[in-house]
Amino acid sequence: MKRYENKNVVITGAAQGIGQATAKRVAEEGGNVALIDIKGLEKTHKMVEDLGGKAFSFECDVTDGQKVKETVDAAAEALGGFDTLFHIAGILRTYHTHEMTFDQYHQIMNINMHGTFYVNQAALPHLLKNKYSSITNMASTAAIGSHPWMSAYAASKGAVVSFTRALYIEYVKQGLRANSVVGGGIATSLHSDFKAPPGGDLKLLAGAMPFVGFAKPEKIASVFAFLGSDDARFINGTEIRADGGALS
Ligand SMILES: NC(=O)c1ccc[n+]([C@@H]2O[C@H](COP(=O)([O-])OP(=O)(O)OC[C@H]3O[C@@H](n4cnc5c(N)ncnc54)[C@H](O)[C@@H]3O)[C@@H](O)[C@H]2O)c1
Repeated sequence: MKRYENKNVVITGAAQGIGQATAKRVAEEGGNVALIDIKGLEKTHKMVEDLGGKAFSFECDVTDGQKVKETVDAAAEALGGFDTLFHIAGILRTYHTHEMTFDQYHQIMNINMHGTFYVNQAALPHLLKNKYSSITNMASTAAIGSHPWMSAYAASKGAVVSFTRALYIEYVKQGLRANSVVGGGIATSLHSDFKAPPGGDLKLLAGAMPFVGFAKPEKIASVFAFLGSDDARFINGTEIRADGGALS
């Protein structure tokens, strides 16, 4: 499949994990990419170039709204415009809610919720220059399921889902599609670094676990690649759950 020929894509969280796998998938399908992450983009950059795609890399912390705007503008200039945004950057931290400090709470909200606003807002003027464009934001099963020690994470990802739905209706008449991926159980650093907080009963996590084992990030990259492509032209203002059936 070459669904991304003549398409330019901006991808956040592209240094590793799902963002990296998505950049690779876009390049395999003929697209050019602007890669955004806080650091460490060299490997993904090379992967894309080795596949024959054009890559432009930008180090940016998504919590810095002004820097995000400058970075997305620079990405648009480098690419010669773009019609697809995959916003994937995010963190997971677990705490007993009654013990979480304000700083810990704000770190999760700043990256996952405010970062989503800053990146999407900066991308909109560029996306809307196209007849058709799309945003796909990375949410989580925590947005709709019940996961222990993740109250701030769940709230931040719930915000991603509702923010994305609001975007859809606001810009649908200008050709924009906006959807979220509700992911769960993907084998990345985020997952391997996961630790229950002291005394946390792991049985409480059973409902979040896929019976089919954990997915490689490529399994989610294919969902992004679908949602950003013309194959998904009739899908708008919704979420695709990709969690191996965990929440079913
Ligand atoms: N792995 C899973 O099971 C899972 C499940 C549901 C949702 N998600 C979501 O998927 C997304 C990607 O996670 P992943 O599993 O690939 O983990 P990951 O840790 O491998 O990748 C996350 C990426 O986001 C980047 N990032 C973090 N903070 C940033 C910041 N302030 N500015 C810019 N970039 C920043 C990191 O540097 C990293 O490259 C996250 O939004 C995460 O919440 C993952």
